Amino acid sequence: MQVLSVTPEIFPLIKTGGLADVTGALPEALNGLGVRTRSLVPGYPVVMGALKKKKALHQYAVLQGGKAALHAAEIGGLDMLVLDAPHLFDRPGGPYGDATGADWQDNWRRFAALGRVGADIAAGALKDYKPDIVHAHDWQSAMTLAYMRYGEAANVPSVMTVHNLAFQGQFASSIFAGLGLPQQAMALDGIEYYGGVGFLKAGLQAAWAITTVSPTYAQEIRSPAFGMGLDGLINLRAGELHGIVNGIDDDIWNPETDKHLAATYTAKNLKGRKANKRAIEERMTLDRDDGPIYCVVSRLTWQKGIDILASIIDPVVASGARLAILGSGDAGLEGALLAAANRHRGRVGVVIGYDEGLSHLLQGGADGILIPSRFEPCGLTQLYGLRYGCVPIVARTGGLADTVIDANEAAVAAGVATGFQFTPEDAGAFHHAILRANALYADPAGWTSLQRQGMKSDVSWDRSAQKYAALYRMLLSKRDA
Ligand code: ADP
Ligand code: GLC
Repeated sequence: MQVLSVTPEIFPLIKTGGLADVTGALPEALNGLGVRTRSLVPGYPVVMGALKKKKALHQYAVLQGGKAALHAAEIGGLDMLVLDAPHLFDRPGGPYGDATGADWQDNWRRFAALGRVGADIAAGALKDYKPDIVHAHDWQSAMTLAYMRYGEAANVPSVMTVHNLAFQGQFASSIFAGLGLPQQAMALDGIEYYGGVGFLKAGLQAAWAITTVSPTYAQEIRSPAFGMGLDGLINLRAGELHGIVNGIDDDIWNPETDKHLAATYTAKNLKGRKANKRAIEERMTLDRDDGPIYCVVSRLTWQKGIDILASIIDPVVASGARLAILGSGDAGLEGALLAAANRHRGRVGVVIGYDEGLSHLLQGGADGILIPSRFEPCGLTQLYGLRYGCVPIVARTGGLADTVIDANEAAVAAGVATGFQFTPEDAGAFHHAILRANALYADPAGWTSLQRQGMKSDVSWDRSAQKYAALYRMLLSKRDA
């Protein structure tokens, strides 16, 4: 079976968050199940730079205002189709905005173009390749499914995966004329969204099946509190909605072989974690002592509850814990964390920025990882924490609820606990969870068994890849029925 995965990010080439980890790892996991994935990605400068030889499979004289070409490439074991459209993608900055973080004004054009090309491939535009299934990730890829629906690939089964409903790709109705869709598409059951155009909304309408990245989030987004305005539509399509939890790439995230660590280690012998903890103390100018270090590796945003964290730093420090925080995002939150680091020299270390290597070291040496998200479709950092014996302390929401087993009395007695959960997502409950963690940390045998239990959890892609493969097969039989 051939699947075309359409995605705006893919690890290791281009990553702003967990989406890249997922689209980078899922193809390999599916490979063993008889599913071959080709990934269509925009030709950002880093992607074009990784192309060894350029041979166009397909050319566009005009695609959203300029010339474009499609290249095949094998990069890092991934089978890719790269959309080379310099007028859309050859620019400095991030995939969605400039270096200051401001969105590109023509994002609708950029990702409409990606969708147009995805749909053309689905319809058979390439000589030697036609996918059986098209799988679109997030709003940036969603227009693929709209172009398929209103074009020549309506009979090709499609999957729309929602990694985060907070990002929807909403634009003014004036862009409609530039999309090249038939007038009938600008309708309530099409791409129209509150008087404008909604890319994700269009994908959700057009998809044969909808998935999101955990069962709990799949349930949550049916409610107004989490539905971000789309809960009505999602409820209408609840019969085609599936929650499939993410896995992790266990070659890249493996404490036994991880090159970013000062010392590697195994579940049986955790000794190497000590050297990693010392390395974190050095790197983040923290005092050296034997109390717990809790890390944070996160976008610094409201979603991630970083304001809740900032509000309890003083009492957390007073409890004897140290904090090692890596992230970037909202200027106000960055400032609040830097101010806390200033107030608590040696107790709170903050690195503002994006640092893949440091993120591994933190998982390999910190005692716990704090994830106080207000909502979390899946979350990957708690999965890395589990694999690395870095105990997750998480809000009980979305994928965090589905992947961490709270160390309550019963779970500890049964030997199944893997972390700490708290609810509601507020300062009081979060602080209480950290105090519970401190108390268990003071019992080394209890803590080690929590770590080992986490390291035993199955966070691989195995089970979830099987669920995607089963979903694809179900759609193929629907097509053939
Ligand atoms: P989201 O995609 O919502 O940001 P996830 O937990 O799914 O959240 O994925 C975040 C990914 O980005 C993880 O791989 C995490 O390690 C990584 N990450 C987040 N912030 C940073 C950072 N400042 N430096 C390095 N890696 C980061
Ligand atoms: C989104 C979500 C995150 C999820 C990731 C990958 O960025 O915020 O929870 O893990 O996508 O699916």
